[in-house]
Amino acid sequence: MSERPAAVMSQTVTPAESPAAPAKAGNRRTFAIISHPDAGKTTLTEKLLLMGGAIHLAGEVKARGERRRARSDWMAIEQKRGISVTTSVMTFGYRDLVFNLLDTPGHEDFSEDTYRTLTAVDSAVMVIDAAKGIEAQTRKLLEVCRLRDVPITTFINKMDREGRDPFELVDEIAETLALDPVPLTWPAGMGGDFAGCYDLLGDRFLPFVATGTGGAGGEGEPLAYGGVEDPELAERLGAERHDALVEAVGLAREACPPFDRQSYNEGHMTPVFFGSALRGFGVRTLLDGLVESAPPPRSQPAEPRAVAPDEKQVTGFVFKVQANMDKNHRDRIAFVRLCSGRFKRGMKLKQIDTGKTLGVNNPIFFFAQDRALAEEAYPGDIIGVPNHGTLRVGDTLSEGEALRFTGIPNFAPEILRRIVLDDPMKAKHLRRALEDLAEEGVTQVFRPISGSDWIVGVVGQLQLDVLATRVTGEYGVKLRVEAAPYATARWVTAKSPAELKRFTDKVGSQCAEDRDGSLVFLARNAWDLGRMRDDWPELQFHATKERHGAAEAA
Ligand code: G4P
Repeated sequence: MSERPAAVMSQTVTPAESPAAPAKAGNRRTFAIISHPDAGKTTLTEKLLLMGGAIHLAGEVKARGERRRARSDWMAIEQKRGISVTTSVMTFGYRDLVFNLLDTPGHEDFSEDTYRTLTAVDSAVMVIDAAKGIEAQTRKLLEVCRLRDVPITTFINKMDREGRDPFELVDEIAETLALDPVPLTWPAGMGGDFAGCYDLLGDRFLPFVATGTGGAGGEGEPLAYGGVEDPELAERLGAERHDALVEAVGLAREACPPFDRQSYNEGHMTPVFFGSALRGFGVRTLLDGLVESAPPPRSQPAEPRAVAPDEKQVTGFVFKVQANMDKNHRDRIAFVRLCSGRFKRGMKLKQIDTGKTLGVNNPIFFFAQDRALAEEAYPGDIIGVPNHGTLRVGDTLSEGEALRFTGIPNFAPEILRRIVLDDPMKAKHLRRALEDLAEEGVTQVFRPISGSDWIVGVVGQLQLDVLATRVTGEYGVKLRVEAAPYATARWVTAKSPAELKRFTDKVGSQCAEDRDGSLVFLARNAWDLGRMRDDWPELQFHATKERHGAAEAA
């Protein structure tokens, strides 16, 4: 069986030959876009790729997805539902930097992978629809960013349409996300009246040029003025719009603290840009903002010590495993985020958990439009490593030193279901299938302390469909996914084992073990969970769990 999956191109490309700038350690900016469906993530992605010269025509991001869909036959549901289960990586160059944009699947394909992708980035762009403000999915994703203090840049989108008052939107960021928003641009008008943005740092006006929706050129060359009150700007905007802008810029400057890079880097402060992805306005300013502020690959938390990106030894971790296109082969692609060293094709890396050495002969490098073999890669880059199911989510790969990256947790499931077997004779097969898929990160499995049915937990509905399809397709086990009376789960720890025992004796009917044997409380609803917290003050209830060691965040 060939190690290289069918969909991978045989072409060999080094980063230096890519449209990106010359490869060098430290010039990577690895980020994700977080947003609620329909806020404009796909449109912004496309315009960023256009700006970076990685694609040439608007519409290619969507077209690429469709081509890939048409090509892949690995999973009926992928076709049936017309969506992609892949977390893809898009690489493009801008100025002297190489940007790796990691896609966070949304809509129906929202899953634990969406969360875990955020463990592999150094910063994120939060896209908000100006008419809608902060929406549920954005809030959830932001919470995950917060676990690692990922710096967030905000892009308030759709200024070419009537939206909410910009001050209201900025206030909402401060109030509901507990971030300090600092507007770096401010819109002059909105909807049909939108004339562009004032650049608060550079004291320039960024004119909106109505060029249609296809390109990234909706932002004209910046115009320098002697301040927002400059009469020439008044002449350009007309008295009414100019008066409103002068007042708003004055207020924004008064109300918001100056931009502080350290506070941004620590995940407390968010610079805010206004724009219209569809019209290609504000995209260049956003990218310039990322060039100025987005952090290069950071030190990564690991045991027994953190790993700095400039270390010589190659290290990385697996944040996602993608089942391969061909269901007859158990091939997988592990997405590895490189954390240190200079990776070269053919290198041997050790899988720390098993002690096995892996020759990485066919690593895949992801480009905007295609995939190619990676000759070399640097910290911040993502490589795909084909394997036959040996690599698991959370695995550390290292050239030698026995390190384990931390902060790649499991997240408390938001959907819990009971698995019922059609044929009870297949119980062993089911166990194997569920355990395999749990290790791969498709779903979490829980074994109730009393009772025999497995409970599976996911954060997105699609994970359940993937689970059922793969258990049947790959393991030949027919199962039914049925409702379970639980709304969420929490990992439970305590300083005293006696206290844990008392807890399981008392509420055993709602307790289960995860696949590592860690204790999990299955809560019927938020009230149930709150009551347990009150009744058992000595216990900790955790919303995430590290694969190695104790659960982290409460
Ligand atoms: P998503 O990936 O976050 O789900 O959002 P997507 O980019 O697909 O955008 C959702 C809808 O919002 C699309 O319209 C898109 O054209 C529109 N949109 C994105 N950015 C802007 C913007 O700056 N201004 C305006 N006015 N609209 C914007 P659609 O009709 O749902 O899809 P399509 O037919 O245009 O593809």
